[in-house]
Amino acid sequence: MSKNHQKVVLVGDGAVGSSYAFAMAQQGIAEEFAIVDIIKDRTKGDALDLEDATPFTAPKIFYSADYDTCKDADLVVITAGAPQKPGETRLQLVDKNLKIIKSVVEPIVKSGFDGIFLVAANPVDVLTYAVQKLSGFPRNKVVGSGTSLDSARLRVALGKLFDVSPVDVQANMMAEHGDSEFAAYSSANIGGVPVLELAKEKGISMDELLKIEDDVRKKAYQIIDLKGATFYGVATALTRISRAILHDENAVLPIGAPLNGEYGLKDIYIGTPAVVNANGVAQVLEVPLDEREEKAMTDSAKTLEEVAKNGMA
Ligand code: 2OP
Repeated sequence: MSKNHQKVVLVGDGAVGSSYAFAMAQQGIAEEFAIVDIIKDRTKGDALDLEDATPFTAPKIFYSADYDTCKDADLVVITAGAPQKPGETRLQLVDKNLKIIKSVVEPIVKSGFDGIFLVAANPVDVLTYAVQKLSGFPRNKVVGSGTSLDSARLRVALGKLFDVSPVDVQANMMAEHGDSEFAAYSSANIGGVPVLELAKEKGISMDELLKIEDDVRKKAYQIIDLKGATFYGVATALTRISRAILHDENAVLPIGAPLNGEYGLKDIYIGTPAVVNANGVAQVLEVPLDEREEKAMTDSAKTLEEVAKNGMA
Protein backbone atom coordinates (compact mmCIF):
# COMPACT_ATOMS: atom_id res chain seq x y z
CA MET A 1 0.00 0.00 0.00
CA SER A 2 1.11 3.56 -0.59
CA LYS A 3 2.25 5.63 2.39
CA ASN A 4 0.73 9.02 3.15
CA HIS A 5 3.59 11.32 2.27
CA GLN A 6 5.06 10.71 -1.17
CA LYS A 7 8.10 12.20 -2.79
CA VAL A 8 8.95 12.53 -6.47
CA VAL A 9 12.30 13.64 -7.87
CA LEU A 10 12.44 15.05 -11.38
CA VAL A 11 15.83 14.71 -13.05
CA GLY A 12 15.97 17.01 -16.08
CA ASP A 13 14.19 20.37 -15.88
CA GLY A 14 13.81 21.12 -19.57
CA ALA A 15 10.55 21.65 -21.45
CA VAL A 16 9.28 18.11 -20.78
CA GLY A 17 10.41 18.05 -17.14
CA SER A 18 8.96 21.43 -16.18
CA SER A 19 5.68 20.67 -17.98
CA TYR A 20 5.53 17.41 -16.01
CA ALA A 21 6.14 19.31 -12.75
CA PHE A 22 3.32 21.69 -13.67
CA ALA A 23 0.95 18.83 -14.50
CA MET A 24 1.82 17.14 -11.18
CA ALA A 25 1.09 20.44 -9.39
CA GLN A 26 -2.28 20.69 -11.14
CA GLN A 27 -3.28 17.14 -10.29
CA GLY A 28 -2.14 17.19 -6.67
CA ILE A 29 -0.27 13.88 -6.89
CA ALA A 30 2.55 13.44 -4.29
CA GLU A 31 3.26 15.83 -1.44
CA GLU A 32 6.91 16.55 -2.15
CA PHE A 33 8.57 17.31 -5.48
CA ALA A 34 12.31 17.87 -5.86
CA ILE A 35 13.89 19.13 -9.07
CA VAL A 36 17.44 18.21 -10.11
CA ASP A 37 19.26 19.68 -13.10
CA ILE A 38 22.71 21.01 -13.86
CA ILE A 39 21.16 24.44 -14.50
CA LYS A 40 20.57 25.43 -10.88
CA ASP A 41 18.95 28.81 -11.54
CA ARG A 42 16.35 27.04 -13.62
CA THR A 43 15.46 24.49 -10.90
CA LYS A 44 15.37 27.19 -8.22
CA GLY A 45 13.23 29.42 -10.40
CA ASP A 46 10.88 26.60 -11.31
CA ALA A 47 10.46 25.57 -7.66
CA LEU A 48 9.52 29.15 -6.72
CA ASP A 49 7.18 29.48 -9.69
CA LEU A 50 5.51 26.12 -9.07
CA GLU A 51 4.93 26.74 -5.36
CA ASP A 52 2.84 29.76 -6.37
CA ALA A 53 0.41 27.35 -8.04
CA THR A 54 -0.17 25.32 -4.88
CA PRO A 55 -2.66 27.64 -3.09
CA PHE A 56 -4.96 27.08 -6.08
CA THR A 57 -4.50 23.33 -6.30
CA ALA A 58 -3.20 21.20 -3.44
CA PRO A 59 -0.45 21.61 -0.84
CA LYS A 60 2.87 20.42 -2.16
CA ILE A 61 6.49 21.33 -1.48
CA PHE A 62 8.60 22.15 -4.53
CA TYR A 63 12.34 22.61 -4.21
CA SER A 64 15.60 22.53 -6.13
CA ALA A 65 17.94 19.77 -4.99
CA ASP A 66 20.97 17.59 -5.72
CA TYR A 67 21.05 13.86 -6.43
CA ASP A 68 21.28 12.88 -2.75
CA THR A 69 17.64 13.93 -2.42
CA CYS A 70 16.74 10.71 -4.29
CA LYS A 71 17.57 8.55 -1.27
CA ASP A 72 14.07 8.66 0.23
CA ALA A 73 12.09 9.27 -2.99
CA ASP A 74 9.24 7.00 -4.06
CA LEU A 75 9.67 7.86 -7.72
CA VAL A 76 12.49 9.31 -9.80
CA VAL A 77 11.47 10.57 -13.23
CA ILE A 78 14.24 11.00 -15.79
CA THR A 79 13.62 13.46 -18.60
CA ALA A 80 17.27 14.58 -18.86
CA GLY A 81 18.65 14.41 -22.38
CA ALA A 82 18.95 16.26 -25.65
CA PRO A 83 15.62 16.64 -27.47
CA GLN A 84 15.14 15.93 -31.19
CA LYS A 85 15.96 18.69 -33.65
CA PRO A 86 13.63 19.09 -36.64
CA GLY A 87 14.05 16.03 -38.90
CA GLU A 88 16.14 14.10 -36.36
CA THR A 89 14.89 10.65 -35.32
CA ARG A 90 14.70 9.56 -31.69
CA LEU A 91 17.19 6.76 -32.37
CA GLN A 92 19.75 9.30 -33.60
CA LEU A 93 19.89 10.69 -30.07
CA VAL A 94 21.19 7.43 -28.62
CA ASP A 95 24.90 8.22 -28.19
CA LYS A 96 24.36 11.67 -26.71
CA ASN A 97 21.61 10.59 -24.38
CA LEU A 98 23.16 7.31 -23.24
CA LYS A 99 26.08 9.37 -21.93
CA ILE A 100 23.69 11.65 -20.07
CA ILE A 101 21.74 8.69 -18.68
CA LYS A 102 24.93 7.10 -17.36
CA SER A 103 25.89 10.35 -15.65
CA VAL A 104 22.52 10.62 -13.88
CA VAL A 105 21.84 6.99 -12.94
CA GLU A 106 25.12 6.59 -11.09
CA PRO A 107 24.54 9.37 -8.50
CA ILE A 108 20.88 8.40 -8.12
CA VAL A 109 21.81 4.82 -7.22
CA LYS A 110 24.66 6.07 -5.01
CA SER A 111 22.15 8.13 -3.00
CA GLY A 112 20.58 4.88 -1.77
CA PHE A 113 17.42 5.36 -3.88
CA ASP A 114 15.14 2.34 -3.66
CA GLY A 115 11.95 3.48 -5.38
CA ILE A 116 10.66 3.29 -8.95
CA PHE A 117 12.41 4.78 -11.97
CA LEU A 118 10.24 6.29 -14.69
CA VAL A 119 12.21 7.07 -17.85
CA ALA A 120 11.08 9.46 -20.59
CA ALA A 121 14.27 10.64 -22.33
CA ASN A 122 14.67 9.45 -25.94
CA PRO A 123 15.19 6.99 -27.47
CA VAL A 124 13.06 5.95 -24.51
CA ASP A 125 12.98 2.18 -25.02
CA VAL A 126 16.76 1.91 -25.28
CA LEU A 127 17.34 4.34 -22.41
CA THR A 128 14.86 2.55 -20.13
CA TYR A 129 16.73 -0.68 -20.85
CA ALA A 130 19.99 1.12 -20.06
CA VAL A 131 18.66 2.50 -16.76
CA GLN A 132 17.70 -1.02 -15.66
CA LYS A 133 21.10 -2.43 -16.62
CA LEU A 134 23.09 0.45 -15.13
CA SER A 135 21.11 0.58 -11.88
CA GLY A 136 20.90 -3.17 -11.39
CA PHE A 137 17.33 -2.59 -10.17
CA PRO A 138 14.74 -5.37 -10.51
CA ARG A 139 13.15 -5.04 -13.93
CA ASN A 140 9.68 -4.26 -12.58
CA LYS A 141 11.05 -1.19 -10.77
CA VAL A 142 12.15 0.50 -13.99
CA VAL A 143 9.29 1.79 -16.15
CA GLY A 144 9.50 3.52 -19.52
CA SER A 145 6.99 6.00 -20.90
CA GLY A 146 7.04 3.74 -23.98
CA THR A 147 4.05 4.21 -26.27
CA SER A 148 1.84 5.96 -23.69
CA LEU A 149 1.91 9.22 -25.64
CA ASP A 150 1.60 7.49 -29.03
CA SER A 151 -1.45 5.57 -27.79
CA ALA A 152 -3.00 8.84 -26.65
CA ARG A 153 -2.34 10.25 -30.13
CA LEU A 154 -4.04 7.24 -31.72
CA ARG A 155 -7.05 7.62 -29.40
CA VAL A 156 -7.32 11.30 -30.34
CA ALA A 157 -7.24 10.43 -34.06
CA LEU A 158 -9.79 7.61 -33.75
CA GLY A 159 -12.00 9.78 -31.54
CA LYS A 160 -12.10 12.38 -34.32
CA LEU A 161 -12.71 9.73 -36.99
CA PHE A 162 -15.66 8.15 -35.19
CA ASP A 163 -16.99 11.26 -33.37
CA VAL A 164 -16.47 9.87 -29.89
CA SER A 165 -14.50 11.09 -26.89
CA PRO A 166 -10.85 9.97 -27.03
CA VAL A 167 -11.27 8.99 -23.38
CA ASP A 168 -13.55 6.14 -24.50
CA VAL A 169 -11.35 4.82 -27.29
CA GLN A 170 -9.47 1.67 -26.29
CA ALA A 171 -6.52 1.49 -28.64
CA ASN A 172 -2.77 0.97 -28.33
CA MET A 173 0.23 2.02 -30.32
CA MET A 174 2.82 -0.64 -29.62
CA ALA A 175 6.55 -1.46 -29.90
CA GLU A 176 9.16 1.33 -30.26
CA HIS A 177 8.25 4.84 -29.20
CA GLY A 178 9.39 5.92 -32.62
CA ASP A 179 9.37 5.23 -36.32
CA SER A 180 8.85 1.43 -36.15
CA GLU A 181 5.78 1.53 -33.89
CA PHE A 182 2.38 0.23 -35.05
CA ALA A 183 -1.31 0.59 -34.22
CA ALA A 184 -2.76 -2.59 -32.73
CA TYR A 185 -5.98 -2.18 -34.73
CA SER A 186 -7.07 -5.81 -34.42
CA SER A 187 -7.74 -5.32 -30.68
CA ALA A 188 -8.81 -1.65 -30.76
CA ASN A 189 -12.41 -1.04 -29.74
CA ILE A 190 -14.90 1.62 -28.79
CA GLY A 191 -17.40 0.53 -26.15
CA GLY A 192 -16.50 -3.07 -26.90
CA VAL A 193 -17.19 -2.69 -30.64
CA PRO A 194 -14.07 -3.53 -32.67
CA VAL A 195 -12.65 -0.50 -34.49
CA LEU A 196 -12.22 -2.67 -37.59
CA GLU A 197 -15.99 -3.37 -37.61
CA LEU A 198 -16.89 0.26 -36.97
CA ALA A 199 -14.63 1.23 -39.86
CA LYS A 200 -16.31 -1.28 -42.18
CA GLU A 201 -19.78 0.02 -41.25
CA LYS A 202 -18.65 3.57 -42.06
CA GLY A 203 -16.94 2.61 -45.29
CA ILE A 204 -13.47 3.45 -43.91
CA SER A 205 -10.80 1.34 -45.61
CA MET A 206 -7.75 -0.32 -44.03
CA ASP A 207 -5.61 2.06 -46.11
CA GLU A 208 -7.28 4.97 -44.37
CA LEU A 209 -6.60 3.39 -40.97
CA LEU A 210 -2.97 2.82 -41.95
CA LYS A 211 -2.72 6.47 -42.97
CA ILE A 212 -3.90 7.39 -39.45
CA GLU A 213 -1.27 5.05 -37.97
CA ASP A 214 1.37 6.81 -40.04
CA ASP A 215 0.13 10.26 -39.01
CA VAL A 216 0.38 9.19 -35.36
CA ARG A 217 3.92 7.96 -36.00
CA LYS A 218 4.81 11.32 -37.51
CA LYS A 219 2.94 13.55 -35.09
CA ALA A 220 6.02 14.40 -33.00
CA TYR A 221 7.86 15.51 -36.17
CA GLN A 222 4.88 17.68 -37.10
CA ILE A 223 4.83 19.35 -33.67
CA ILE A 224 8.64 19.77 -33.61
CA ASP A 225 8.50 21.42 -37.06
CA LEU A 226 5.81 23.79 -35.82
CA LYS A 227 7.08 24.77 -32.37
CA GLY A 228 10.49 23.19 -31.88
CA ALA A 229 9.57 20.55 -29.29
CA THR A 230 6.76 18.46 -27.82
CA PHE A 231 6.03 18.59 -24.10
CA TYR A 232 2.41 18.88 -22.92
CA GLY A 233 1.35 15.49 -24.25
CA VAL A 234 4.28 13.57 -22.85
CA ALA A 235 4.15 15.48 -19.55
CA THR A 236 0.52 14.47 -19.05
CA ALA A 237 1.23 10.86 -20.00
CA LEU A 238 4.05 10.83 -17.39
CA THR A 239 1.67 12.27 -14.81
CA ARG A 240 -0.83 9.49 -15.54
CA ILE A 241 1.86 6.81 -15.10
CA SER A 242 3.12 8.53 -11.92
CA ARG A 243 -0.37 8.46 -10.45
CA ALA A 244 -0.72 4.75 -11.19
CA ILE A 245 2.57 4.12 -9.34
CA LEU A 246 2.07 6.47 -6.39
CA HIS A 247 -1.58 5.56 -5.83
CA ASP A 248 -0.87 1.85 -6.29
CA GLU A 249 -3.65 1.70 -8.87
CA ASN A 250 -3.13 -1.53 -10.80
CA ALA A 251 -3.93 0.65 -13.81
CA VAL A 252 -3.68 -0.84 -17.28
CA LEU A 253 -1.59 1.55 -19.36
CA PRO A 254 0.51 1.34 -22.49
CA ILE A 255 4.07 1.88 -21.21
CA GLY A 256 7.62 0.76 -21.93
CA ALA A 257 7.70 -2.60 -20.16
CA PRO A 258 10.37 -5.27 -19.70
CA LEU A 259 9.40 -8.42 -21.61
CA ASN A 260 10.08 -11.91 -20.43
CA GLY A 261 8.87 -14.13 -23.25
CA GLU A 262 5.75 -12.14 -24.17
CA TYR A 263 5.49 -11.66 -27.96
CA GLY A 264 8.37 -14.13 -28.17
CA LEU A 265 10.73 -11.43 -26.87
CA LYS A 266 13.11 -11.25 -23.92
CA ASP A 267 15.63 -8.83 -22.45
CA ILE A 268 14.04 -5.76 -24.00
CA TYR A 269 11.89 -2.78 -23.01
CA ILE A 270 9.15 -2.07 -25.52
CA GLY A 271 5.70 -0.45 -25.77
CA THR A 272 2.88 -2.73 -24.61
CA PRO A 273 -0.05 -2.46 -22.22
CA ALA A 274 0.87 -3.49 -18.68
CA VAL A 275 -0.50 -3.33 -15.15
CA VAL A 276 1.15 -0.50 -13.20
CA ASN A 277 1.14 -0.16 -9.42
CA ALA A 278 3.41 0.75 -6.49
CA ASN A 279 5.81 -2.01 -7.55
CA GLY A 280 6.15 -0.50 -11.02
CA VAL A 281 5.34 -2.98 -13.78
CA ALA A 282 3.19 -5.56 -11.99
CA GLN A 283 2.24 -7.56 -15.08
CA VAL A 284 2.75 -7.34 -18.84
CA LEU A 285 -0.41 -7.92 -20.85
CA GLU A 286 0.23 -9.79 -24.07
CA VAL A 287 -2.18 -8.34 -26.63
CA PRO A 288 -3.26 -10.82 -29.32
CA LEU A 289 -1.75 -9.56 -32.58
CA ASP A 290 -2.73 -10.30 -36.18
CA GLU A 291 -0.12 -11.21 -38.77
CA ARG A 292 0.73 -7.63 -39.78
CA GLU A 293 1.04 -6.55 -36.16
CA GLU A 294 3.12 -9.55 -35.16
CA LYS A 295 5.63 -8.79 -37.92
CA ALA A 296 5.71 -5.12 -36.94
CA MET A 297 6.41 -6.10 -33.31
CA THR A 298 9.25 -8.44 -34.29
CA ASP A 299 10.80 -5.93 -36.71
CA SER A 300 10.57 -3.09 -34.20
CA ALA A 301 12.16 -5.23 -31.47
CA LYS A 302 15.04 -6.06 -33.84
CA THR A 303 15.65 -2.38 -34.49
CA LEU A 304 15.68 -1.61 -30.77
CA GLU A 305 17.94 -4.55 -29.94
CA GLU A 306 20.47 -3.45 -32.53
CA VAL A 307 20.53 0.14 -31.32
CA ALA A 308 20.84 -1.01 -27.70
CA LYS A 309 23.63 -3.45 -28.56
CA ASN A 310 25.66 -0.88 -30.53
CA GLY A 311 24.95 1.97 -28.12
CA MET A 312 25.87 0.06 -24.99
CA ALA A 313 28.89 -1.76 -26.44
C1 2OP B 1 7.18 12.80 -28.75
O1 2OP B 1 6.77 11.77 -29.28
C2 2OP B 1 9.40 13.76 -29.13
O2 2OP B 1 9.18 11.64 -28.21
C3 2OP B 1 8.60 12.89 -28.25
O3 2OP B 1 6.46 13.80 -28.65
